[in-house]
Amino acid sequence: MSFYKNMYSPKLIELFRNPKNVGEMPDADVKVTEGSLACGDMITIFLKVDEETKRITDIKFLSYGCAANIATTSIMTELVKGKTLEEAKKLTFKEIVDALGGLPPVKMHCAVLSIDGLRSAIRKYEEERGIVEVPELDESFIRSRLRRIINPRLGRDIVSTGIIEKISVHEGIVEIDVNMPEDQEFAGYIKEEIRERLERLPNVKELKINFLGG
Ligand code: FES
Repeated sequence: MSFYKNMYSPKLIELFRNPKNVGEMPDADVKVTEGSLACGDMITIFLKVDEETKRITDIKFLSYGCAANIATTSIMTELVKGKTLEEAKKLTFKEIVDALGGLPPVKMHCAVLSIDGLRSAIRKYEEERGIVEVPELDESFIRSRLRRIINPRLGRDIVSTGIIEKISVHEGIVEIDVNMPEDQEFAGYIKEEIRERLERLPNVKELKINFLGG
């Protein structure tokens, strides 16, 4: 632990050892997995939101990141629990860093990942319920959403790693060709992530995911 003691604040070490709000939430209103473009690590955020007041009544997370990511996401969940979605959107990574008593510069992106995960979860909730408008459904919109999915094998997103062969959009029907055999490691994960991000958008009528090769 002496390595951690030199690098991290006592609060961060405490939350790394005993993170708050960790775990799955089977009845979540929204679930999102967000990847860090800086390091390839991932977090999953689960939200429960009161329909009427739009308050976050519960939030949980799973982290596939480093000690700083576990601690920053833990404190993020504590800071937004009970807040309205509008209030939660205003939380900044700087407030997270301050609440932790500081973070080494090389670990700032870990706090950014926790904020990105929170904002993605809120946006998904609002888009799926028609609270905010979903941008026009075209290839570049689909590509921008797929760019948030990390390819676990390479630690980079599935667009820049070249496995998205083709995207076509026609009258709400989205078809995506993925350049990997369906039985390859992580193919199931990637398919599920694509579904999670696109399937419930109000302007997506049908989603077809084709795995090529094998
Ligand atoms: Fe990747 Fe911290 S989340 S290094």
